Amino acid sequence: MTDIPRRSLAVGAGLLAGAMALDARSQVPGIVTVPKFAPKPMTFNPDKVPGLSGNLLRSHHANNYAGTVTKLNTTSEELAKLDFAKAPILAVSGLKREEHIAYNSTILHELYFDGIGEAPTQPSGLLAQAIARDFGHLDRCKAEFAATGKTLAGGSGWVILVHSPRDKRLYIHWAADHSMAPAGGVPLLAMDMYEHAYHMDYGADATKYIDAFMKVIKWTNAERLYREAMRL
Ligand SMILES: [Fe+2]
Repeated sequence: MTDIPRRSLAVGAGLLAGAMALDARSQVPGIVTVPKFAPKPMTFNPDKVPGLSGNLLRSHHANNYAGTVTKLNTTSEELAKLDFAKAPILAVSGLKREEHIAYNSTILHELYFDGIGEAPTQPSGLLAQAIARDFGHLDRCKAEFAATGKTLAGGSGWVILVHSPRDKRLYIHWAADHSMAPAGGVPLLAMDMYEHAYHMDYGADATKYIDAFMKVIKWTNAERLYREAMRL
């Protein structure tokens, strides 16, 4: 395998790059490259996040996020074993579906946890300018983000703040499951609207969870990702 496809894979992994290592077999020409993923640790003290309990955050991270990473590794290994010229199409279909869901879920969960802080913050710099340009005001941006989350109350999915390199602007996207992230967008901030993200603290009251999340957004992470995206 040449350097070009390996480099492309790393770029494609985007946010996963820091948590991903390539299997040793990738060094052998002609052998399938199997990506290996490891859960990223939380970047905050889960016992010091106002409105979201340590028990909730630890359970979400250890069970849902880390479980997804394990599933992504298992699925990647299973795909690497397949002889695609001979494998039953249903076997390929099932594994490809699981790979896609686990991959997106891993990226979105990492974005979610990286976007949580222990104290309120405000966007600044280039991101603040882009928010003002595309939403008119930060309050409008936050209101759209929260309202989009409320449309998923009682259901599941993600709200994602995205930079579109194609349109050179920000969007807030609605995704009813892990597989619906917008094509071509660079995700900057994600809010998990699966019930496991809030039920332990708020029962079925998604609105209280959304209000709590909006107050602990670590905008510096979104700003860092936006700066990286603008360099692409
Ligand atoms: Fe989750």
